[in-house]
Amino acid sequence: MNILVTGGAGYIGSHTTVALIESGYNVIIADNLSNSSISTKKNLETITNQELTFYNIDVADNNALENVFSNHHIEGVIHFAGYKSVSESVEKPLYYYNNNLISTLTLLNVCEKFSVNKFVFSSSATVYGDNKPPLTEKMLLSPTKNPYGETKVMCERMLSDIAKSKEHFSVAILRYFNPVGAHESGLIGEAPNGIPNNLMPFVSQVAKGKHKKLNIFGDDYQTLDGTGVRDYIHVVDLAIGHVAALDNLTNGVHYYNLGTGRGTSVLELVKAFERANDVEVPYDLMDRRPGDIAECYADVSKAEKELGWTAKRDIIEMCRDAWRFEKKHHI
Ligand code: NAD
Ligand code: UD1
Repeated sequence: MNILVTGGAGYIGSHTTVALIESGYNVIIADNLSNSSISTKKNLETITNQELTFYNIDVADNNALENVFSNHHIEGVIHFAGYKSVSESVEKPLYYYNNNLISTLTLLNVCEKFSVNKFVFSSSATVYGDNKPPLTEKMLLSPTKNPYGETKVMCERMLSDIAKSKEHFSVAILRYFNPVGAHESGLIGEAPNGIPNNLMPFVSQVAKGKHKKLNIFGDDYQTLDGTGVRDYIHVVDLAIGHVAALDNLTNGVHYYNLGTGRGTSVLELVKAFERANDVEVPYDLMDRRPGDIAECYADVSKAEKELGWTAKRDIIEMCRDAWRFEKKHHI
C-alpha cells in the first residue's frame, strides 16, 4: 500500500517512515525541509536499505501536491507537516495558522479529488488544556492558551466534520504526549534549531557540554518531588503506534492517546539520563515557566484495546537513545 507521509523528513515522520517500511508499506515523502535536512533521506535509506521517493514540496502548494498524487496511487496519508513550537506560535500566530491550517486544508482537498479516504493526523496532548490527568479521549477539549494548540484543535474539528459527512472517510487523530529518544542506529533523531525549548534535547546538550547547566522550571508543583511531571514516550514506540492506527483504520473519526500512561518528573528524568549514560547533568532550580502545567499523562487504555498497541520502551532506553543520537550529531 502506498502511503504519503507529509513531514517525513522531520523527527516523528522519519521514525514513522522506518516503521511503515518495516511493516511492508511503500512510503512517499513530501517535505519542504523547513525544519529538517535532506541528509535525513540518505540516513533513512541507510536504515531501511532501500531508495526513498522524496518530494521537496510545500504541502500547502496545491499543484505540487496534485502532481504527487498523479504520479503515485496514494492509498493513505499520514500528515505530520506543520510547525510545532509553542513559544514561536505565540510570537508569530499568523505564520502558524497559515502553515498548519492551509497545509491540512490543501491536503484534504487533494485527497478528496483523488478519492483517498485513509487519513492519520498528528495531534497533541496540548488539546486537553487544563484537564486533569490521566487524560482520556472522552474529555471535552479546553482552550489551549497558544496558537499552536489552537491549530491542532481546529484541524481535529475539520477532520471530524469531514468524517461525519463522508461515509467512507477514515481518520485517526493521534494525540502525542512527550516524544523523546531516537532510532537505535543514532542516524535519525531530534535536532532542534537553536536552543531547545523541550527538556530531553536540552538535557542531552548539557551532558555534551553545549550548555553549563539545565534550568529546571519549578520545584514547587504538587508532584512527588515538586518538579513537572510528563508522559515521555520513545519516538520508535510512537512511530509503531502510527502503523497500528493505519492497520486498524475503519470508517469515521477515531481519537487515540499515544503515551505510556506513566508520569516522570523532571528530576527523575535527569537522574535516569545520568544513570543510563554515565554522565553528569548539572542543574539549577528556577521559577516556573509561564504556561506550564504541573502534570500531564495519558490514559492509554483505548489504544491498547482498539489498536492492540502499547509503548514498550522505558525511560532508560529513551535516555540512552537520545544520548547516542546527540553524540553522533555534530551540529
Ligand atoms: P518536525 O518539525 O521535526 O517535523 C515536521 C516536518 O514537516 C519538518 O520536516 C518540516 O520541514 C515539514 N514541514 C513543515 N511545514 C511543511 C509544509 N507546509 N510542507 C511540507 N513540509 C512541511 O516536527 P515533529 O516533532 O516531527 O512533529 C511532527 C508533527 O507532530 C507536527 O505536526 C507536530 O505539531 C506534531 N506533534 C509533535 C510533538 C513533539 O513533541 N515533537 C508533540 C505533539 C504533536
Ligand atoms: C511542550 C509544549 C507542548 C508540546 C510539547 C511537545 C509548552 C508550554 N508546551 O510541552 O504544547 O506538545 O512541548 O513538543 O511549551 N523543563 C525544564 N527545563 C527545560 C525544559 C523543560 O525544567 O529546559 C520542564 C518543563 O517545565 C516541563 C517538562 O520539563 O515540566 C517538560 O517540558 P517540555 O519538554 O518543554 O514539554 P511540555 O512542557 O510538556
